[in-house]
Amino acid sequence: MPLVTSKEMFKKAYDGGYAIGAFNVNNMEIIQGITEAAKEENAPLILQVSAGARKYANHTYLMKLIEAALIETDLPICVHLDHGDSFELCKSCIDGGFTSVMIDGSHLSFEDNIKLTKQVVEYAHDKGVVVEGELGRLAGIEDAVNVSAEDAAYTNPAEVIEFVERTGVDSLAIAIGTSHGAYKFKPGQKPQLRFDILEKVSEKLPGFPIVLHGASSVIPEFVEMINANGGQMPDAIGIPEDMLRKAASMSVCKINIDSDLRLALTGSIRKHFAEHPDHFDPRQYLKPAREAIKGLVKHKLVNVLGCNGKA
Ligand code: G3H
Ligand code: 13P
Ligand code: ZN
Repeated sequence: MPLVTSKEMFKKAYDGGYAIGAFNVNNMEIIQGITEAAKEENAPLILQVSAGARKYANHTYLMKLIEAALIETDLPICVHLDHGDSFELCKSCIDGGFTSVMIDGSHLSFEDNIKLTKQVVEYAHDKGVVVEGELGRLAGIEDAVNVSAEDAAYTNPAEVIEFVERTGVDSLAIAIGTSHGAYKFKPGQKPQLRFDILEKVSEKLPGFPIVLHGASSVIPEFVEMINANGGQMPDAIGIPEDMLRKAASMSVCKINIDSDLRLALTGSIRKHFAEHPDHFDPRQYLKPAREAIKGLVKHKLVNVLGCNGKA
């Protein structure tokens, strides 16, 4: 099966009350772990590539690895640019075979966000590529940009219709209290999401796919595995899985997960070296790391996203 856009996936997810997992990919083991899990669960997939991932692994290497995954799995897979910050970057990914791009103008004024997003949409749609825009500002770390909690801003539901109509975007990322990275809530803090904002946005945009960024749960098992084996991560709290499940049953059709993959991979590698300090063949520690990714993704597909069996 060739690469697909997220259009059909989102329509089915919206109607079916589940969400598609958008997992960040940076190397072969991560791509293999995610796609093997999706194959076993017969789940549609979005593999997303950040500017940093593209710089690290190279566009062509990532595309060829994803092409290999398509051949191995025969699943509907969409390749998406995560947090595109310029027209040029989006254009380069579209020209290079991505089927979906995000243009993140959330740090711009409303008018400048519309202008930039519209420019990307016009170019993308002409090539059959879909576009995700963002309104509102998440806290946390993306690439080199660190947004403090004070600078974060919830999405204003009063703005969403105008934004979608004037830009022509295919999906919209909104800020309802999720944040990027492994430190979303402080120890003792009760995680909260603004489901009232999500409801208002859905009322204004019936049938329209909403995206949640910063949706890792910071699974304690992996944080403990890191710290039990020489790591020094401070206490971390992520987005509770039941909240993500609830969002997926509403209008949220795409849930972004990166930090949980990083924690699973790092936890597994640290544990491996603690148990086998003499090992130096990368296959010895990357094989269990790939399995850890696979186990985590299966759990997300079945217990959080609900998209198993939907390919
Ligand atoms: O939201 C950001 C993603 O987690 C990607 O992170 O820019 O460090 O690759 P990155
Ligand atoms: P997490 O850091 O919560 O995994 O969020 C990832 C993300 O939103 C990628 O765009
Ligand atoms: Zn994000």
